[in-house]
Amino acid sequence: GIKKKEVNVLCIGLDNSGKSTMINQLKPSSAQSQDIVPTIGFSVERFSTTSLSFTVFDMSGQGRYRSLWEHYYRDAQAIIFVIDSADKMRIVVAKEELNALITHPDVKSKRMPILFFTNKMDLPDSLSSVKVSQMMGLENIKSKSWHICASNALTGEGLKEGVDWLQDQIR
Ligand code: GTP
Repeated sequence: GIKKKEVNVLCIGLDNSGKSTMINQLKPSSAQSQDIVPTIGFSVERFSTTSLSFTVFDMSGQGRYRSLWEHYYRDAQAIIFVIDSADKMRIVVAKEELNALITHPDVKSKRMPILFFTNKMDLPDSLSSVKVSQMMGLENIKSKSWHICASNALTGEGLKEGVDWLQDQIR
């Protein structure tokens, strides 16, 4: 068959935002794990879409591991940034981590689309993607192409919209 284009993606966001659950949901059902545990360091996962074969570095969001993220910016062609839309208290922390990302030399120096998921949209007190976008100041990001969508990583709702956008950005 025709070989799909290989793409390296870095998946970041605070601990407990749902990164591993989301990546697991993107894998074919035969490759999915039954139970997701907090990531130690990082984990490398693979999934594909119609035209692309993704290698995803699923980074731990725990404070003590966040310093690892920057070492993977250089090789990443895109970023998936997951936000827990029900964790209002820590949106400011997510914003600080986003700022560190977009001002990093290895990120500033190249094209790198950023896909934001406001995850856990199923929780009754979750904030809308518009609200999260305002709180994170996304309209101020002029140097990167970005997209935000609401998701439920447990059911997969919203994931296709985001991944379709990412696929268009990379082709
Ligand atoms: P770290 O590995 O610590 O960085 O966490 P993570 O971002 O990979 O989060 P993980 O996928 O481990 O999910 C954390 C918890 O949130 C788990 O209990 C998930 O079942 C739950 N979770 C993930 N996505 C959703 C969602 O969309 N809705 C709800 N209600 N729970 C979710």
